[in-house]
Amino acid sequence: MELGSVVQFLDNKSILVTGGTGFLAKIFVEKILRVQPNVKKLYLLVRAADHKSAIHRLHNEIIGKDLFRNLKEKHGKSFTSFISDKISMIPGDISRQDLGVEDSGLIQQVFKDVEVVLNLAASTNFDERYDVALGLNTMGVKYVADFVKQCVKLRVLVHVSTAYVSGERSGLILENGYGVGETLNGVAGLDVDAERKVVEDKLNDLRLQGASDKDITIAMKDLGIHRARVYGWPNTYVFTKAMGEMMLGELKGVIPTVILRPTIITSTYKEPFSGWVEGTRTIDSLAVAYAKGILTFFLGNLDSIVDVIPADMVVNAMIAAVMAHASHQPPESIYQVGSSLRNPMKYFHLQDYGFRYFTNKPWINKDGKPVIVGRVRVLDNMDSFHRYMAFRYLLLLKGLEWANAAFCHFFQGVYSNMNRKINYVMRLVDIYRPYLFFDAVFDDLNTEKLRMAARTSLVEEDVLYFDPKCIDWEDYFMNIHIPGIVKHVFK
Ligand SMILES: NC(=O)c1ccc[n+]([C@@H]2O[C@H](COP(=O)([O-])OP(=O)(O)OC[C@H]3O[C@@H](n4cnc5c(N)ncnc54)[C@H](OP(=O)(O)O)[C@@H]3O)[C@@H](O)[C@H]2O)c1
Repeated sequence: MELGSVVQFLDNKSILVTGGTGFLAKIFVEKILRVQPNVKKLYLLVRAADHKSAIHRLHNEIIGKDLFRNLKEKHGKSFTSFISDKISMIPGDISRQDLGVEDSGLIQQVFKDVEVVLNLAASTNFDERYDVALGLNTMGVKYVADFVKQCVKLRVLVHVSTAYVSGERSGLILENGYGVGETLNGVAGLDVDAERKVVEDKLNDLRLQGASDKDITIAMKDLGIHRARVYGWPNTYVFTKAMGEMMLGELKGVIPTVILRPTIITSTYKEPFSGWVEGTRTIDSLAVAYAKGILTFFLGNLDSIVDVIPADMVVNAMIAAVMAHASHQPPESIYQVGSSLRNPMKYFHLQDYGFRYFTNKPWINKDGKPVIVGRVRVLDNMDSFHRYMAFRYLLLLKGLEWANAAFCHFFQGVYSNMNRKINYVMRLVDIYRPYLFFDAVFDDLNTEKLRMAARTSLVEEDVLYFDPKCIDWEDYFMNIHIPGIVKHVFK
């Protein structure tokens, strides 16, 4: 595998990116514009009613972000004209056929120009409604593939999936693809059209019963988890992402396709600067809850490996995969991008870094007072968790239920509130449990081949760094990631 020059590769290229307002997409766009200002066009497909609202999103949610500050400084007054020259916004929706794009002139331009497509649009909510997740993470992949087949100069489609399509398996998880209809527990009969019918029937039933929007949402969320578990996946997100991969498998040989499977993506390691992050993502929600004094226990195995990878490394791996597959057709088509094999870190370390960081620099709450954190209680199995909940909350809830019945619903408000919170915690635990007790390592042999190619044949050394071995986790968490989430995520 030879990569050559990234600057030369990107020169005069047109790239289509779906989900342009997303976390990873923004980091990709910034990197391309920084590394090769002579890229021809970045077409960003975003959900928007029309072109005007798409432009509004470009300014507010993409280039208006701190992430673009270096680029803004570099271009000075010409930044706006540079952006309008290089970025073309496409209002659309990947869960619709033809990606919901209505501007035929723009479509023709895309079909004529685009050589590289990155599919980053997704619902990343683990507990998404099944109809939404299926429409986006599964059918959306098919619609994107159908769309890009019409790009006459297409050289590669990179679809970003997730390493956790593996479900709850343990051991070494290889970079293998899913066959159509393959399931994790061997239950036969998985079929995307049948799943769409299940969704349609359920929605029709609910409407016939006159269910409220809220009830429909709850029922569709439950349906997703139920369908995922029928076939062995732990939640709707990873189940629909796995089916999305199956959709691409059907197209093998028709268009050059790459699947990239990152693990848990964290803030930027180096570029455009360290510590940029957006939104509260999986493990960060733990850090936020801990620093604010909300997290009173940690559920999980502290010896489990938590596989995290900085976002700029994922973007670099993406670019390297694009270059490798646009020029040759290497036999590999799935790349797992994580750290568990080459530089594993454990929950124990995460807990320790959080404790040390927030003891030294406590979060100042709304009243201007520092939140004092301590070492939280660790519940290392589900039995301890159930006991903890029973003693601490469920007994109290039962007492409230009796008192409420005895005092003519006087405590109804308190009771309902507590019941809702407990149900919420139980649901979160149910959804995240597989990751807190995760017992697997992601193989990355294919990604390592890409790294080797980058090391030996990339003209611009260091531009595409994505080797997790070089990360000192303590330094990264204490000096980059935690300060990054405090700065960009804490509110
Ligand atoms: N972040 C992680 O830790 C992680 C880890 C592994 C894999 N991944 C994968 O990496 C990819 C990018 O993740 P991310 O963290 O950057 O996600 P993200 O920030 O949640 O962005 C998702 C993007 O998809 C867009 N989108 C949602 N519905 C759409 C629709 N119907 N049509 C068009 N666009 C739509 C969203 O647009 P709106 O702004 O309109 O909602 C948003 O721009 C995803 O495929 C995800 O599964 C992420």
